[in-house]
Amino acid sequence: MEPSATLDSLAQELRVFRPLPQLVVEANVNPQELVAFRRQAERDPLGYWEEAADELDWYRKWDRVLDDSDAPFYRWFPGARCNIVYNCLDRHIETANKNKLALIWEGEPGDSRKFTYYELYREVNRFSGALRTLGVKKGDRVAIYMPPLPETVIAMLACARIGAVHALTFAGFSAKALRSRIRDVDAKLVVTADAFYRNGQIIKLKPIVDEALVGGADSVDSVVVVHRATVETDMQEGRDFWYDDVVRRERREAPAEVMDANDPLFLLHTSGAAGAPKIVQHSHGGYMVGVSRTLTHVFDIKPTDIFWCTADLGWITGHSAVVYGPLLAGTTTLIYEGHPNYPQADRMWNIVSKYGVTVFYTASTLIRMLMRFGPQYPRMHDLSSLRLLGTVGEPIGAETWLWFYRHIGRGECPLLDTWWQTETGMFMISPLPISILKPGSVTRALPGVEVDVVDREGASVPPGKGGLLVVTRPWPAMMTGLYGPGGEEQYRAAFARFHGRYLTGDVASRDEDGFLWILGRSDDVLNIAGHRLGAAELENAFRTHPAVAEAAVVGVPDKIRGEAAKAFIVLVEGRKGSTELMVELQNHVRRELGPVVVIKSVEFRESLPKTRSGKILRRVLKCAETGADPGDLSTLDDEDAPE
Ligand code: WT7
Repeated sequence: MEPSATLDSLAQELRVFRPLPQLVVEANVNPQELVAFRRQAERDPLGYWEEAADELDWYRKWDRVLDDSDAPFYRWFPGARCNIVYNCLDRHIETANKNKLALIWEGEPGDSRKFTYYELYREVNRFSGALRTLGVKKGDRVAIYMPPLPETVIAMLACARIGAVHALTFAGFSAKALRSRIRDVDAKLVVTADAFYRNGQIIKLKPIVDEALVGGADSVDSVVVVHRATVETDMQEGRDFWYDDVVRRERREAPAEVMDANDPLFLLHTSGAAGAPKIVQHSHGGYMVGVSRTLTHVFDIKPTDIFWCTADLGWITGHSAVVYGPLLAGTTTLIYEGHPNYPQADRMWNIVSKYGVTVFYTASTLIRMLMRFGPQYPRMHDLSSLRLLGTVGEPIGAETWLWFYRHIGRGECPLLDTWWQTETGMFMISPLPISILKPGSVTRALPGVEVDVVDREGASVPPGKGGLLVVTRPWPAMMTGLYGPGGEEQYRAAFARFHGRYLTGDVASRDEDGFLWILGRSDDVLNIAGHRLGAAELENAFRTHPAVAEAAVVGVPDKIRGEAAKAFIVLVEGRKGSTELMVELQNHVRRELGPVVVIKSVEFRESLPKTRSGKILRRVLKCAETGADPGDLSTLDDEDAPE
């Protein structure tokens, strides 16, 4: 369903926040430079990206910046040769970065490991050698099923270094989901760990791999197991190898494989919030250029930063904003193994103060969860090292934005709401630290990125109206294909509807000042008596009520209005659901959004169905209501889900 005439969003915040003068003075990109970048990118977009590419190292430069002769199958930097890992590691060990920290890892029990760029380089080389010894060749797929450990990063980089293609599966997925992902990509080797720490427990991982490999993952020859926790681990002779054993005799110095810019770097399944997961492919050259430029611009990377993106490595955020982006930028990236509330709700803030984190980038769902525990938890720690905050994943809503900004950012740190997707690879719409901010708005497209909000016919909609978010010109980190049977048609379909413009699947609106507001996935838009409303908009209105911790809204059939809204509400601790509270919430949302918004019913719940990456799976709620088949549920975060 699509919006053609959404209500003017009353949830839009009128407040505006400006950066502190000192920050503007110190920013890598100051306001005049940003204007100049935008002007250059508008006049000559390919020239803009070519300059970004020139900042990186190549074995051979491109014949041209973009080959669009087979659009929408674009080829960025055709003829160029590079390896993204050369730019993440080798380049830095020639500079003062050699002995700088590349990676800080904190285990859930509080143990920690640190790697300089030189140390990481040497580890990656050893594991690259081991992969080669185990028969992995350029173009082979390697499945990585790992908790957040240094070896997860090492495995990703080691694959890319020898031209193998990594495919990560989040360690929370079941054996069945893992099996289908291994099959989807025909993985030759699996990298896993014996176990890991999560929420005070030791979770065994290797048995899940064993189960996944029983009956039907014939492509897999070997399994490499990283030792993390002391558990009994069955090792199958001839197939399974301990990480420490396979790297022992490998060389610490070895050159990276020379790759074509369009050779695949990794495959990654989308989160599946909007349907069956697709398998997105990214390649070495364009991805490297897009991620490097946008991450350094948006997060204003300085030599002294400690950059913490809390995403799991198994999502695109983990690829672009934990591993590749920060290492390309030569900064220090931090990863944490465990649960955000272990042993209690201050763990994230404890880590920020322990390591002096300067940039903290996280999912809006995590902030919402931490907000529930109250500001006394961040107050237990000195968060003064923070200078920038970031958010991603779902519309954050003004209330959560303001909480994050005030209680974590002291009202001083710019909060950068970055819009992007697995398919886009890089940040697309986001403020820079020097930008004027409106709570809940993703502001504008980055220089070199062009987006529009259009109606069903593809015409731009006027300010205040909702429409479909499209990207109107190719960008360097765009996916280079969708893998697997039907992938080519799926890829083509994403560009077909509006003649070459990329259909993001999101609904957005632009306000009078040109600021963009994301309303959510177009599948999550309701049509109540002809008025189109994003589920996220309704949910944010519920969340402004003090009793509400989390909300999910779906459309259910309604005889009179065509569709009506049903809300699923998780209350804050200490509040109980009642008929009075239900009526109060219905009235509250009507007051917030206007009288057309009729909430048919409210159901109180202990929790909401979410994807493993934290997105609300409204599809599941909706199908439970209407009795329809919810389809592929492999991404549902439910420990008891039937296999
Ligand atoms: C979808 C992409 C890119 C990493 C996140 C997950 C939603 C993403 C925002 C944002 C509102 C957002 C969109 C998008 N989304 N960022 N800042 N504000 N919504 O990547 O799993 O591929 O999901 O996440 O709906 O289409 P993904």
